[in-house]
Amino acid sequence: MVSTLADDSIHSAGGHLQYYRQHAISPVHYRVEHIDSHFDRRDSLYRSLGLPPVTFRNARVIEIAPGSGQNSLYVAACQPASYDLVEPNPTGLRDIEAAYRAFDRPHTAPRIHPVTFQDFETSERFDIMLCENWLGSLPNEVRLIGKLASLVAPGGTLVLTMVPPSGFFANIMRKLFALRLDDSKLSFEDRTDRLVDVFGPHLSTIANMTRSHRDWVHDCMLNPHYLDVALPLETILDTVGHELEALASLPRFTLDWRWFKALTGEGRDFNGHMLAAYRRNVHNFVDYRRIFAAAQDEDTALNTAFLRFHAAALVWKKAFLDGADTTAGAAAITATLSDIAAAMKLVDSDIAAAVEEAIAVWAEPQLRPEQVRDMTKFAALFGRETVYISFTRPRHGRADV
Ligand SMILES: C[S@@+](CC[C@H](N)C(=O)[O-])C[C@H]1O[C@@H](n2cnc3c(N)ncnc32)[C@H](O)[C@@H]1O
Repeated sequence: MVSTLADDSIHSAGGHLQYYRQHAISPVHYRVEHIDSHFDRRDSLYRSLGLPPVTFRNARVIEIAPGSGQNSLYVAACQPASYDLVEPNPTGLRDIEAAYRAFDRPHTAPRIHPVTFQDFETSERFDIMLCENWLGSLPNEVRLIGKLASLVAPGGTLVLTMVPPSGFFANIMRKLFALRLDDSKLSFEDRTDRLVDVFGPHLSTIANMTRSHRDWVHDCMLNPHYLDVALPLETILDTVGHELEALASLPRFTLDWRWFKALTGEGRDFNGHMLAAYRRNVHNFVDYRRIFAAAQDEDTALNTAFLRFHAAALVWKKAFLDGADTTAGAAAITATLSDIAAAMKLVDSDIAAAVEEAIAVWAEPQLRPEQVRDMTKFAALFGRETVYISFTRPRHGRADV
């Protein structure tokens, strides 16, 4: 399955680490039914990003923010020349150590750096850099994306995740509902149970989810920084596009019918090519179950509607948590939702109906858990929210024009 926000976790650079530490959690465990299926998943992902197993062998690889370390086992088993893991969360570090203690296949033992990426210093350059489900588009995080790029060796590859606003849409809505249903006077356990009960039926519609509902609630609905994880392709390209070239993505939304002989100098333009495809597919990130034809032109109006919804969510959340008047903020959310419903009606009536149901539930003055739990049209709507992208550093010269 194409990954969705429900299935993958994503975070902001500073705050969520504090949140993890405060509650001694690392809510990113894969429920691995068999190591071979887990490895199949990782292999499928990396090969789609231009990284079959042989590219890892004997390479200098580094992974930033590996979480539980379960994903890293696949890379370690490809036997890179060296493998560095940079993870500051004590609970994550314990999980990583346990994962390697139980791992009995031939592998390269990683060097573990128990520090933040901000504090990680090295004079080395890496053939493959991996950083998934961590950075969003807050200014300090964008700077860290720049730092990631700076450590990629010539000819090397960087793998990142982005979060397109249209793919983030459904879970932004869930987060808004969660904020209204949460009760900070309860214990962390009770708050978790309550939201697992509300969103369990939504999450149960996803066939290939590998995380527990509990981890998902911790990581997304209770994580105070969850709305900061939005990371549009534009932001990544503005940050790394002058030095790195887009290689591939999963899901794959870029077709390249150009003749390879034209791909020299300014004609390469892999970044511009990917960006144009992304903008013609804004609607394709909204619902992971559906695929539509790409739009004829770049759909900036639809993209803007989703960006405005995210911005309205941040404004409302701040007023709500500050105990300020939320009337204008709530109305702005309804207005942007109505724009999205109208635009999506031209694409797919089921998605539009799901958005209309969200508008109706949002309008409830005293929202009750069962009103969200029992949503019939919106419940199964999850976006293509976690989108993997790989970039390469050209062997010489600048990437972009
Ligand atoms: C959502 S988890 C993702 C874990 C893993 N990459 C995955 O996809 O399953 C985010 C990870 O970022 C780590 N992290 C948070 N702040 C960090 C920092 N400043 N430097 C490095 N890692 C950090 C967290 O501890 C956590 O393991």
